Amino acid sequence: MAEEDVVTLLERQHLQIRELFDEVEQAKGDQRKEAFHSLVRLLSVHETAEEELVHPEVRRIQGGDAVADARVGEEHRAKELLSTLDDMGPDAEGFDILLLQLRDDVIAHAQHEEREEFPMLRRETEQKRLEAMAATVRAAEAIAPTRPHPGMESSVANILLGPPAAIMDRVRDGIRKMLP
Ligand SMILES: [Fe+2]
Ligand SMILES: [Fe+2]
Repeated sequence: MAEEDVVTLLERQHLQIRELFDEVEQAKGDQRKEAFHSLVRLLSVHETAEEELVHPEVRRIQGGDAVADARVGEEHRAKELLSTLDDMGPDAEGFDILLLQLRDDVIAHAQHEEREEFPMLRRETEQKRLEAMAATVRAAEAIAPTRPHPGMESSVANILLGPPAAIMDRVRDGIRKMLP
């Protein structure tokens, strides 16, 4: 079996992110908190990996700068909204409406990546390099703080996972250490 490359991996994460948005919307109580924590973790890992690995790679390709700039802007807005939601917590009034906004933004952003950015990588970047990038993303995901165990007090759970910015810092540091 061919090794998974970074485009396949990130597209798989896009699907997982959509599923987690659905889960947060539909679940109640502790299950909803758990699902939201999973979403915060995966989105933080995913967008940081794209910022550190994918957009810089695309900038090496002709015409890549404009494409990467647009994606970075979208990610910046999504990260701010994610932090706001994380501060509010899933029980807060107004959470649901902001969650829907974040979902729409994130899905549109992922579609832009899949239509405009990833095809450039597929066309211009060597397969071996795309596979090595996938390995770095997987390693970065493994070092991100994990979600809390079910049934744990939510205040404790929050401390264990940390805010999105802390997860992103940890993933960013990890990726930079792995790069040659
Ligand atoms: Fe992204
Ligand atoms: Fe993405």
